Amino acid sequence: MKILITAGPTREPIDPVRYLTNRSSGKMGYALAAAAAKRGHEVLLISGPTSLDLPPGVDYLPIESAADMYQAVESQIGRQDIAIFAAAVADYTPAQVADQKIKKTGEQLTLTLEKTKDILGSTREVMNFSGTLVGFAAETENVEENARGKCQRKSCNLVIANDVSRRDIGFDSQENEVMLVYPDRTESLPKDRKDHLAYHLIEIIESL
Ligand code: PMT
Repeated sequence: MKILITAGPTREPIDPVRYLTNRSSGKMGYALAAAAAKRGHEVLLISGPTSLDLPPGVDYLPIESAADMYQAVESQIGRQDIAIFAAAVADYTPAQVADQKIKKTGEQLTLTLEKTKDILGSTREVMNFSGTLVGFAAETENVEENARGKCQRKSCNLVIANDVSRRDIGFDSQENEVMLVYPDRTESLPKDRKDHLAYHLIEIIESL
């Protein structure tokens, strides 16, 4: 099958030398890409900047900002059977990008941010994607309830939820512990190494 996977953080430019980003290392998305390729799928990895090596046998589209990721997904999703959104995409981006490095003038500096486009939330209605759609949910409270809301609003077949208030799992750790939130039920998986977990997740997603 053809599988598109998003991974890593986005970088939202403030000026030529500064950006807003988050703690995603890309490990979860890259582990999914590696597992899917090992299982014989044709994998396209669309990723923000990471320090990880590209898994063997995976096609790669590097992006920087949330807007870049939106465009890359929009141009590629029509060819895919499955789309898995593991990237930590910025929800807000600076409304203006300064042409020159912002100078240190006043005691305070106020940045105005504007909403980015919701990529996962655009796949069904805007991009007309009819394949299997898997989102992630990075939550710090009410994990199952919030993930179920995302699953319903974004018409996902599955949302993989992780509690990102924990330092031992989620962002930038070797392990993760996830809850699988389907439209009609929830299942919890035990904490495991991201590479083992990814293999199991790909098997589950194949069966959807
Ligand atoms: O990269 P690692 O260090 O291994 O960490 C893994 C992870 C914690 C980043 C990963 O497991 C994870 O939870 N990824 C989703 C992070 C996130 O942005 O979650 P969210 O709840 O804010 O977003 C919900 C879903 O919408 C996600 O599938 C996200 O990719 C997608 N999204 C979000 C915003 C946006 N503008 N467009 C999107 O498509």
